[in-house]
Amino acid sequence: MDRAIFDARYEEYRRAVEEFLDSLFLGTPHWQDLYASMRYSLLAGGKRLRPVLTLEFARQGGSDWRIALPPACALELIHTYSLIHDDLPCMDDDDLRRGKPTNHKVYGETLAVLAGDALQPEAFRLILTAPGLDSARRTACALVLAEAAGAEGMVAGQVLDTLHAPRTERELTEVHRLKTGAMIAGACRMGATAAGGDAALLSAAQTYAEELGMAFQIRDDMLDVMGDETTFGKPIGSDAQEGKVTFVDLLGLEGCERAVRERTEAAKAALAPLGGGGAFLLSLADSLAERKM
Ligand code: IPE
Ligand code: IPE
Ligand code: MG
Ligand code: MG
Ligand code: MG
Repeated sequence: MDRAIFDARYEEYRRAVEEFLDSLFLGTPHWQDLYASMRYSLLAGGKRLRPVLTLEFARQGGSDWRIALPPACALELIHTYSLIHDDLPCMDDDDLRRGKPTNHKVYGETLAVLAGDALQPEAFRLILTAPGLDSARRTACALVLAEAAGAEGMVAGQVLDTLHAPRTERELTEVHRLKTGAMIAGACRMGATAAGGDAALLSAAQTYAEELGMAFQIRDDMLDVMGDETTFGKPIGSDAQEGKVTFVDLLGLEGCERAVRERTEAAKAALAPLGGGGAFLLSLADSLAERKM
């Protein structure tokens, strides 16, 4: 897809997501410190990759992508909570996120934990009250999110990553599939589900996302070594400091580069059933393989 057309569509999605997120948690109860902490992380920027994937797969499912905004933003709420908790001293102990001090550095650990806690049910509320979805689709979308984020998805990956000291290629692949791939797969499936897409679209979404998720996390591990802190928005060298073994240790940076390329090509191949309609997703996979942030 032509770069300018790709950029314009990404920007249209991103803006709609920012606008939707900015409309949340604006009340002024006397616990507005909670709202402030939630909004601090939610509106700190970020690529909004997961909602963009949802919106594009909703388009692929033949629907007006705007009906998928609530479930798309639900994923971003869960993703944001996972980042707040991931940065805590008991997890990766990081002090920079999306180019700003991490949530617990600003609001303290107690409120950071609680902001993350609140973002989880609020995500399900967005899906269960989505104006453009009937009750069957709301239920199906809620299930997609529960599977992606729960004990067989992202949280399982976080447990393996922080407590099980993965070090072989097989172990690291499993961690990546769960901690990162599950939410990316959930994002793609969420869009197809919100739009009532058929089994062929769901299957393409799943395979595309699995490969994209692996490429995405390997690239993240590379940037943790070779990235620029200002552009990446996160501390460089955090994995090594935490004593983590990553794909960079196993394959080296060049080997990682090759692995990212291979996974990206596999992701793109999964889009064959979409024909020319998959052009945005093809360009997205290519752009993520070279991302610096
Ligand atoms: C960071 O995700 C966590 C990983 C799974 C590597 P992103 O790289 O999508 O972070 P934001 O949302 O753009 O800040
Ligand atoms: C993050 O993995 C996975 C999550 C579910 C948050 P990382 O720990 O590598 O993510 P960053 O590098 O802190 O964003
Ligand atoms: Mg982590
Ligand atoms: Mg981390
Ligand atoms: Mg990382």
